[in-house]
Amino acid sequence: MSPVSTEFANSCLVITVDHPPVNALSHSVRLGLIEALSQADHDDINTVILICAGRTFFSGADISEFGKPPKSPGLSDVIKALEECPKPVVAAIHGQALGGGFEVALACDYRIMEASARIGLPEVNLGLIPGAGGTQRASRIAGLDIAMELAVGGKPISAERALQVGLCDEIAHKDLYESALGFSHHGELQKRVIGKMDPAEIDEAASRKWRTYATKRQKGQKAPLAAIEAIEASCELTIEEGLKRERELFVDLMSGSQSSAMRHLFFAERLSGKLANPVKAKPLDLKQIGVVGAGTMGVGIAASMLAAGYDVFLFDVNKDALSVGHGRIKAIVDGDLKKGRIAGPVHDDRLKRLQVADAWQGLSTCDLVVEAVFEDIDIKHKVFAELDEVLRPDAILASNTSYLDIDALAAQSKHPERVLGLHFFSPAHIMKLLEIVRGEKTSDAVLVTALGLAKRMKKISVVCGVCHGFIGNRMLTGYAREAGLLLLEGASPSQIDKALTDFGMPMGPFAMSDMAGLDIGYANRKKLSTDQYEEHAFRVHDQLVEMGRKGQKTDAGFYRYEAGSRTPILDAATDDIITAVRTREGVTPRKITDQEIIDRCILALINEGALLLDEGIAQRGSDIDVVYANGYGFPRWRGGPFCYADEQGLETIVARIEHFSEQHGNRWWHVSPLLKSLAETGGSLSKHVQT
Ligand code: COA
Repeated sequence: MSPVSTEFANSCLVITVDHPPVNALSHSVRLGLIEALSQADHDDINTVILICAGRTFFSGADISEFGKPPKSPGLSDVIKALEECPKPVVAAIHGQALGGGFEVALACDYRIMEASARIGLPEVNLGLIPGAGGTQRASRIAGLDIAMELAVGGKPISAERALQVGLCDEIAHKDLYESALGFSHHGELQKRVIGKMDPAEIDEAASRKWRTYATKRQKGQKAPLAAIEAIEASCELTIEEGLKRERELFVDLMSGSQSSAMRHLFFAERLSGKLANPVKAKPLDLKQIGVVGAGTMGVGIAASMLAAGYDVFLFDVNKDALSVGHGRIKAIVDGDLKKGRIAGPVHDDRLKRLQVADAWQGLSTCDLVVEAVFEDIDIKHKVFAELDEVLRPDAILASNTSYLDIDALAAQSKHPERVLGLHFFSPAHIMKLLEIVRGEKTSDAVLVTALGLAKRMKKISVVCGVCHGFIGNRMLTGYAREAGLLLLEGASPSQIDKALTDFGMPMGPFAMSDMAGLDIGYANRKKLSTDQYEEHAFRVHDQLVEMGRKGQKTDAGFYRYEAGSRTPILDAATDDIITAVRTREGVTPRKITDQEIIDRCILALINEGALLLDEGIAQRGSDIDVVYANGYGFPRWRGGPFCYADEQGLETIVARIEHFSEQHGNRWWHVSPLLKSLAETGGSLSKHVQT
């Protein structure tokens, strides 16, 4: 059955599209729209209304069709049919009109929107630009600055803003369908084809502003610059020439590796929250969430639980910490109000749902408790033992540990089946990633409840098994080790940091260590035996800490910092310390290329990822890409470490690792057997699913 239906109402042809889940403009929709529009010729029809059923207007072109041979009619044919339709067409928008969906709306003569609806051109987030006239038409109506905000910034705008800038003609304050019918009878609506409007005016200030934005905020990405070029072309070229230029840029991006990597992440992020082997268990009801520990993590977790609509009980044994934590949660909620992210009643409701107390007993009514106390196994064991006494036997008990053994924590409970890890990333109310750690005894019901919780919190969740550091932090150990060894062998902290930021990482490993505090890693290493890590890689780190250089907090670490500033400044004193450590270690420094830095750090990440995938710690290769893109700033346009490995060729990756093994010994450089076998059979790491 066609997803497109038509009816006649008050001299209007109403075209309704119902193509769940999000009304993507798939082939069947395009076909149906062209057929439906052919009915507009009828003499009794004055106006056409285009409306969607379900949760949203068109969410865009069907991304699953990208990269496949095009199927006629294409989106441009639909747009042509709308512009050439003899009667004025009104787009009635609810939910979101995104990408191709908004381009369809722009090909209509008028746009009416529900107050909560949004419009946008987010293709840049998929490494693309609009390919069906979005850059040419948006600028003709709203000018260059707004067109660039939409297509370069990639963030949707509200109905109110769309009305202000001329992209929306009316906001529907009652039922959308009725409003659209009413709008169509406002008077005699005339055809108003945007494509026939005068070109946009040149706006050099806007071009400069968005070029700076793209260079700084979207470093390394091709699509934002292409979007600027296409929008600038809309001032200089006729609509036909402008559309041709836009199409050329679009096609070029579509066939490139950046877009394919970003599209991989789009689907990977939606897959990671699903179990590779689905279970029958039903999720448990969650109403009240307890958070134990009012430090930075506890505060962020509590704030995001409130935002997701849960009642929250924040507990800390320390009254002062509790009061500070309470104040910080309030500041986060107040900040959301001030920034216009939430309205007054939502703000008040969030604060009303928050309780704080320093008595364990208050946690007894909670359905789930997340422990976010200091990362020390003894402290966590004590907290788990206390919680086990206080909580209902069916309440879920989660630890926010970033490294520790969930099974050992579960052993503290009389009900180990209710225990799991919920590893939030800091700051927890901002970072989207959540590692859901399934212990050996975690029940299916507890697991699916956690997946539902993550969805409601709008987090990107990834399920993983128990190991030291789970997916993300375990992989990071190899990366940090190689950075440390490269430093000892002759590279400087700034060379290593720059090579990796040029690769696309948001920060280099040494600037990152300074930010996190060198003393934290130092204390953690003291708890490990030397067969668990490479001591030599951290000789300089240790020396710095022992000299009181703990990073930003002491204004000196690998770099120097001016008081109150976080900008790293090169420090000759660090060079002297490194030289002294090299001499002590008997190392003669050698020249190291940037490529070697990238290869050793990134390949260590990939190989460790392949090992843990093989062990079943991760469910699928794409989950590893999701973790790195969302928790560690791995450049999205490279699609994550595994997508990057596939792009480079797994045979090349294996050969390089074997070379490192020959050069540096095989203590750490063992090629993962999974990686090796995928390389031999022409398989893919990012598409691999663990069976
Ligand atoms: N094409 C194909 N499938 C799409 C899609 C698109 N444009 N947009 C969403 N989907 C699919 C998702 O893959 C998901 O599939 P799944 O249920 O099998 O996992 C499903 O629709 C629901 O999407 P989801 O993102 O989970 O729903 P949401 O309500 O959180 O968000 C949107 C809805 C529309 C805001 C979001 O999906 C989105 O941003 N889509 C992409 C929009 C875009 O970039 N358009 C430009 C393309 S030209």
